[in-house]
Amino acid sequence: MSEDVQGQATDEASESSGSSEATIAVHWREEGYIPPPPKFIGQANASDPAILDRFAEENFPECFREYADLLHWDEYWHTTLDTSDPPFWKWFAGGKLNASYNCVDRHLAGDRNKAALIWVPEPEDEADAVITYQELYRRVNEFAAVLQDLGVQAGDRVTLHMPMVPELPVTMLACARLGVVHSQVFAGFSGGACGGRIADSGSKILITMDGYYRSGDLLDHKVKADEAVEAARKEGQEVDKVLVWRRFPGQYSAKTPMVEGRDVFVDDLLADHRGAVVEPVSMPAEAPLFLMYTSGTTGRPKGCQHSTGGYLSYVAGTSKFYQDIHPDDTYWCMADIGWITGHSYIVYGPLALGTTTVLYEGTPNYPDAGRPWRVAERLGVNIFHTSPTAIRMLRKVGPDEPAKYDYHFKAMTTVGEPIEPEVYRWYFSTVGKGEAIITDTWWQTETGGFIGTGLPGLFPMKPGSCGPAALGIYLDILDENGDSIPKGSGKAGNIVSRAPWPGVFQTIWGQPERFVSTYFEKYNKDKNSTDWHDWPYFAGDGAVQSEDGYFRILGRVDDVINVAGHRLGTKELESSALSVEEVAEAAAVPVVDDVRGRVVEMYIALKPGNEASAEIEGKVKTAIETDIGKIARPKNIWIVPDMPKTRSGKIMRRVIASVSNFTDVGDITTLANPEVVDKIRDQVQSAKRAKGEEPRELSETEEHEIKTYGEQE
Ligand code: WTA
Repeated sequence: MSEDVQGQATDEASESSGSSEATIAVHWREEGYIPPPPKFIGQANASDPAILDRFAEENFPECFREYADLLHWDEYWHTTLDTSDPPFWKWFAGGKLNASYNCVDRHLAGDRNKAALIWVPEPEDEADAVITYQELYRRVNEFAAVLQDLGVQAGDRVTLHMPMVPELPVTMLACARLGVVHSQVFAGFSGGACGGRIADSGSKILITMDGYYRSGDLLDHKVKADEAVEAARKEGQEVDKVLVWRRFPGQYSAKTPMVEGRDVFVDDLLADHRGAVVEPVSMPAEAPLFLMYTSGTTGRPKGCQHSTGGYLSYVAGTSKFYQDIHPDDTYWCMADIGWITGHSYIVYGPLALGTTTVLYEGTPNYPDAGRPWRVAERLGVNIFHTSPTAIRMLRKVGPDEPAKYDYHFKAMTTVGEPIEPEVYRWYFSTVGKGEAIITDTWWQTETGGFIGTGLPGLFPMKPGSCGPAALGIYLDILDENGDSIPKGSGKAGNIVSRAPWPGVFQTIWGQPERFVSTYFEKYNKDKNSTDWHDWPYFAGDGAVQSEDGYFRILGRVDDVINVAGHRLGTKELESSALSVEEVAEAAAVPVVDDVRGRVVEMYIALKPGNEASAEIEGKVKTAIETDIGKIARPKNIWIVPDMPKTRSGKIMRRVIASVSNFTDVGDITTLANPEVVDKIRDQVQSAKRAKGEEPRELSETEEHEIKTYGEQE
């Protein structure tokens, strides 16, 4: 098979291309296929091609019974897919189940003393915590009793702002046991960002931790709780209780004082509930399980609401077939539970299948680049899951480290960003030692689980492509008119999912109109239709499909910059910069980066009467760190004399993005102030050179992204 494709170029240029069109010319070299190792196929959960027939379109939606049947249902559903209120699909309608029961209780009978979670603390001399299913059951029940005691009930929302500690899955599962909707905010986000999410979700309780280790430091995390409560109050939401887990129970690791009457140590509360057992609440399949906030085109993050039955079925099914999780595997996903990847593929998917899932507290290269491989060796990890950014970083700092450790993976996953072929090859040969398959998985916070990826035992790998559509998913690429772009044409467009699937989010919390307008309006054929064929899901990514049906994801078509696999909304960054009083205008643009995929650079124009200064730059940096968090800190802030603008006053982001990436600025004749471009270029590029930031050659798709950046608005 590889001869057919190896080295063959599909570069028929499209006639192309007004920059506002989604149909762009994409030239790219097809990479060769890599077949799955026979040893893998022999043991794979999906090795018989008959599975493809079972999930063929004529069997939709009933095919998804196979996923739902991986769970225990208190009451079986009567309607697999209810489309009566489009596009608010209801999966497994009439069914009842409890997610905590499915992830914990039902494994006790056969696997009571098997490790459910193995937690690896960042300090290497601190012992792992091995939590068996029995121990997890005990802890989840006791914490559920604490929550019950505080009067929390099914349907209430509770915000979690917790680091990578076993108390986080315990808290999530305790919420799920009661039917309480958890909303976990990534610990690296600021208190302010957490407060906004508390207010949006209407949470009265915040659950946090005093501190955690990150790159060798024990951080004071509790301070963010005070900021979060304050920020929520400003938006009209009072937090009654802040529950503080302690990194070392009995000993307080933060300097920030506890607030009398509001803040309580969880270990103190647990003392009153030793041995408590709380009946799991049987929830309707469509009851929300959790909210996960993500960035979009406006300044306000969207609370993606995921269901209990559909979501849990989908992550269990995809964990089984795509992660190839068997009950006796030791599975390690190095993502953070604060993102959707951690929810689906550290907690819910692996635990629903009753496997052992590893959690790591700290940074991958602490104290050195051999750390992940030592963990893998010591624990006998055989399935490994991470992002291209982590792989690029580990390759850069320790290209020869994996060979020094005796571990053997059968399967590896990549997620979150496109992975460059040369990074893929290092992942395959050096990390995987040529023994492990790589599953490239394309999906989103909204999709709940993988939707673009190949079954690892049945499809060969192709570096740079995520693969075909996942089982039961029918992907298509549409142009701006909604016409399907044929595969193999070399033309890119907007990737859509033609049909619903059980993992798709149910709505944006509190903003159902935004749910419809962002994801369905663009390609909806008839607003009143209850036929799902009329409601393709618009994912917001550009993509091309090659002749063999594999998709290659080109990145976001909206105002989102994917930094190290994390979505940052440019409007969020810009409105934060605009909160600095001297700032008149702000524009955030992506810059291609060897390690983090993209980084953000911020352009600022000042109000009259202000001079550019390091102080103003510092204020912008602080505003972003306070409003969003350190992960959003721009690589550079450029205070420029004026922004390049069209005559109607719109900032031309593609021009400054091109300057920042040392690429040609293209046509600037439509600018009202073309003379400013040379000034900005001189200022920015000479400052970059002085810092050692040299021009970098861009791939064609990168160049396209930069040169058309912001043109879709
Ligand atoms: C991008 C992360 C290329 C894409 C699970 C998507 C990818 C956004 C891939 C979602 C992949 C995700 N190849 N690009 N395998 N996976 N993306 O919501 O742009 O944090 O829309 O979910 O990441 O990011 P999110």
